[in-house]
Parts: sequence; C-alpha cells; structure tokens
Amino acid sequence: MENLVEDAKRILNLNWKDGFTIPTNKLYPFQWNWDSGFTSIGHSHFDLDFAIRELQSLFSGQWENGMLPHIIFHSENEKTYFPNFEFWNSNVNLGAPQKPKSSGITQPAVHGFVLENLLEKFPDDEKLIAFVKDIFPKVVKSHRFLYTYRDPKREGLMFIFHPWESGRDNSPLWDESLDRIVINPDELPKYERRDTSIAPSDERPTSYEYDRYVYLLQLGKKNKYDEQGIFEESPFLVQDTLMNAALIKSNQSLINIGKRFGLDIGELEEWQQQSVPRFQEKLWNTDLQTFTPFDIRGGHHISFKEIGGLSALYAEIPTQEQAKQLNDYLSSLHERGFYICPSFDVDSPLFDSKRYWRGPIWPQMNWMIYHGLNKYDFDKTAEIVKSDLIELVSMHGYYEYFESQKSLAKNMTSGYGGGDFSWTAACTLDLIKT
Ligand code: GLC
Repeated sequence: MENLVEDAKRILNLNWKDGFTIPTNKLYPFQWNWDSGFTSIGHSHFDLDFAIRELQSLFSGQWENGMLPHIIFHSENEKTYFPNFEFWNSNVNLGAPQKPKSSGITQPAVHGFVLENLLEKFPDDEKLIAFVKDIFPKVVKSHRFLYTYRDPKREGLMFIFHPWESGRDNSPLWDESLDRIVINPDELPKYERRDTSIAPSDERPTSYEYDRYVYLLQLGKKNKYDEQGIFEESPFLVQDTLMNAALIKSNQSLINIGKRFGLDIGELEEWQQQSVPRFQEKLWNTDLQTFTPFDIRGGHHISFKEIGGLSALYAEIPTQEQAKQLNDYLSSLHERGFYICPSFDVDSPLFDSKRYWRGPIWPQMNWMIYHGLNKYDFDKTAEIVKSDLIELVSMHGYYEYFESQKSLAKNMTSGYGGGDFSWTAACTLDLIKT
C-alpha cells in the first residue's frame, strides 16, 4: 500500500500543470471537467491548496449561461488534440469566455459532491471554507444551466445531446441513437483523429462512431451550443442515468453545505424535490431491475444493464428493494469471475472487455459505487468493489481503465488506454485512505 500511495502522489504531481491537472500526458493534454473533480479529492490528501486551485481553474472556464465545459484548453499552443479549441469555436456563443478557450458541451456535475467530500476531510479549514462559500454560487449556476437549457419540458431530468457529455463516450447505450445519424461525407468537415495514434485502435471508439461525434459537435456549434434548436434537431437526445444521478447527488451536497453556512438553498431544494421521484419513476427499468437512460428521440428506455444505472446508489435514489437488486447483480458478477463492476452487460453480444466503455473497469465508477453501496449497508460488496480496483492497480499500474475478466487480466502486464492516469491515482488513493 505504501508504494501505491507514493506512486499516486507521483502521478498527481507529474500531471499537475501549474494550476490544474491533465488526465494523462499526450492522450488528454488539457483540463477535463469531471476528471478534475476526482483529481481534486486526490490532491487533498497531500496538498489542499492544489485541490482548491484545481477547481478554481476549472470554473475559470464557466460560461455566462452557467455551462461548465467538458474541456478547458488552458494552452492555445498545444495543437496535438482533436477536436481542438479552433474546431469547437465556442465563441459562437457570446457568453463563452475568450480565455480560457473551451469545448461547447458539458460532463457529469460532480463538483457539488466533491466540495462536500473536501469539507468532510477538513471541516474547520478556514481557507477551504472561504473557497467553498466563494464557489458555491458558481456550482449552483452550473446546475441552473442544466435545469434551464437541458430540461425544456421541466420534468426534473436533464438531457444530453452528445455521448461525450455522458462521460461514457462509446458505450453501446448510444449505438441506436448514433445509427439514426446519416452522414453525408460532403457535409462533414475533414478531420484527423489523434487518439488512435497514441493508444491502440481496438481500445478506442471506431471511426463510424467518431464521424457521428463530429456531426453532433457541428450541430451544437450551429446552434451556438445553447439554443432551442439542439432540442428540436438533435437525433441524439437522452436523459442519462449517470448525468442525472451525479446532478442529484451534487444538489444534495450543496443543500447540506448551504445549510451549514446559511446560504440560499431554495432553488436547490425545488430541483431536488422534483428530480429524485422523477428519476425513480422514469428511469427504473422493471424488466432489467436496474435504472436505464431514456431516449427522448426514440421515446423509450435504452434497455441495457450498464454501469450508469449503479451510480444511482451514490445519490441514494433507489429504494432499499431496488438497491438490493443492484447489489445482487454485482455479487453475481463477482461470483462469475469478473472484477466489479464491468462498464457494460457481460452477457450482451455488445460487451467488449477491452474497448473503452463497452466492458472494462473504470476507477471513478468504482469510487462512486463503493460509496453508494456503503450508504445501503452493503458493506461486503462495497469492500469487493474497492479491493478489485486496488488489485488491478497493484498488478497493472495506474491506467485509464482495466480488463474486467479476471482470467484475462491475470495474464496481462498492463491496463488499457493512457498510463499514469490522474483520476485512477486519485480515486485509488482516496479509497485506500478511506
Ligand atoms: C474519455 C472518457 C471521459 C473522460 C476523458 C478524460 O473521454 O470517456 O469520461 O473525462 O476521457 O479522461
């Protein structure tokens, strides 16, 4: 454990770029939204100041409409990433800052619960308290963006219009929606991917998917990234489980923080009162006994067992009976020789244990599920979720994601995707110290 802790510290320092942390060298050379939340928790174990600066840097990219972009391009000189800031051209939206440049879409709203986590660790630290009071209205504003622009029918559930917003880029969840997009090659701008020259292409999204990511980016840009046209035109329009669970969890954390410091929580309470029961009713899939996303365009559930449904545990959305179903599912996977929890249904023909979000283990998901299971007193499964991640990291190092089949993983010498990965270091470290 001593070595793991030292190595996690080395990685967080290595990836620290004077005010923020990149997820990993080469593959992701900028600041990513939800990565930064987890990374901040990691830094807090060594240096609370770094943890605070991480979040300050991220929010320096917040738009006037409240949107917190999924990438902040702190450096305009680094051109090796696609799509870069010029391709996003976020300044088509007049409320996007000129500096730092950013992407035009968002990611899971983790920052409310990250703040609460930091406060639990350092309840009396004056600098942290001052920082939390200062950033609180900005985090609330980022939630207000989601409820205003991404919930036009005022259901209490927000939609995403791009798979990258979900944090689970190429999950099979999105296949049907992406298949709706018919690409006319003359209309799609020429582009060159960078990820496949850095990581093996069989661990990355396919070019069929990538063309559709670019198509949706163009659709967002055409609508200045916040206009009604997105809701009206996008073939991809989904009320996602993880996105809404993270938002609900963060609402609750902000309510708790607001109560402690006497801050205004009226709006947060209204959102919460609507969102929690709505998530319960609309996203519970009785056939599969898990929560699944709702495809607004198709008018139906996206019926797959998948890791996002489990994140509801962390937001304490499930009833005890529903939580038991989720716990039984995890236990059965463990008994069948999988690390838990694979990012996609292992019994589906679409399962692919090495391809990104189509099967591997993702560290930040284990972190959330561990805490979620503990809330429902499923301590035994929680311990497996924690020890599985620690075992993978001990065997393979701090990779981006990992093989989920034990029989395969045991004969391998590394994980998948990028190495020396920030949120893997941060989440493992935090679980070790918990
Ligand atoms: C990938 C992941 C996303 C993450 C990003 C940076 O795009 O799917 O969730 O934020 O990499 O690590």
